[in-house]
Order: sequence, then structure tokens, then C-alpha cells
Amino acid sequence: MTLRRVLYYGDPALRKRAREVTEFDASLLTLVEDMQETMKAYNGVGLAANQVGVLQRVLIVDVPQEDGPRVRHCLVNPVIEQRSGTVKGEEGCLSIPGIYEDVTRAQKIHVRAQDEKGAPVEIEAEDYLARAIQHEVDHLDGVLFVDRLSLLKRQFLRRDLEAIARGELPEEHRPPREVIG
Ligand code: CO
Repeated sequence: MTLRRVLYYGDPALRKRAREVTEFDASLLTLVEDMQETMKAYNGVGLAANQVGVLQRVLIVDVPQEDGPRVRHCLVNPVIEQRSGTVKGEEGCLSIPGIYEDVTRAQKIHVRAQDEKGAPVEIEAEDYLARAIQHEVDHLDGVLFVDRLSLLKRQFLRRDLEAIARGELPEEHRPPREVIG
């Protein structure tokens, strides 16, 4: 397994729509393993392939539950088929370090996808898990959570976003030392 470098706000790969996965081969399994390791190293709860510069429709989530084990999914070619309710909650993004804002999302979603081996997967997700999946599916479409904020909020964050795009990251948000690539 290899840690991959997470791309930051300003990188063009974050603005591209990732392509459907058609080959469920060894390189896909390697990508998923690398993404899992990278997400852990960066202490993330989710990661989309665009964030490591791979334009394929692959996302992973690893979400803590209030009581019980963490919920982990690898979703390939995910489609959110139903959304219900809306709820506001705080989000951050490994590609936009240091910025946390409330985003309105569907409270509950029904997702159809495939796993990393190509088997069909269906998930009903609510609350934080639903939020994480919606955030990562947005990444696959080239959309970032800051795009979903009000114009006023975005203007307020503009300087901070520009600083990230220039590579000016505070010490605590620098990538883990062992990152290569
Ligand atoms: Co993100």
C-alpha cells in the first residue's frame, strides 16, 4: 500500500467530473487500498478518488457512530437515487484544510453503487453517514462543499481559499511526513 498525496483547493483535478469505472481489476483494488491508507493518515472520514488525482468514480467513507463500530464503505459508481429531509451540519474537507462550515444536505439518502469487486451495493444512509456520502459524491462531480455556501460566506472565505490554492498551509495541516507521490 502506498500513501497518496491529497490535492488541495485550486488543483484542477478537484474540479473535474470523474469517469465511471468499467474495469474492476487489480489497479482498482490498489487504488482503494491506497485511498484507505491515505484517509487514515490524514484522519479523514471520507475520500474521493479525485482528491488523490484519479478521475474515477470511487469513494470511501469511514464514519464514527454514536454507539457502535465505525461504518465503512467503498462505493464505486455511486448514484444517489433518493433524498429526503434536509439538515444543516458542519463539514470540513481534507482538500480544504482548516475551513469548517455548516452545509445543508439531505438527511436521508438511498444510494446504489458497486463495491470494489463490482458487486452491486445498496445503502440507506442517514445523518452523518448520509452527509459524508453526499460530500464525496459531490467530489466525483467536481463540486466542493464551499460551493454550497452562501455567496456572502464564500466571499468571507475567499482569502483563506486563495491562500490554500497558493499552498500556504498552516503547520497542523501539512501532509503526513511519509506521503509520497
Ligand atoms: Co472533501
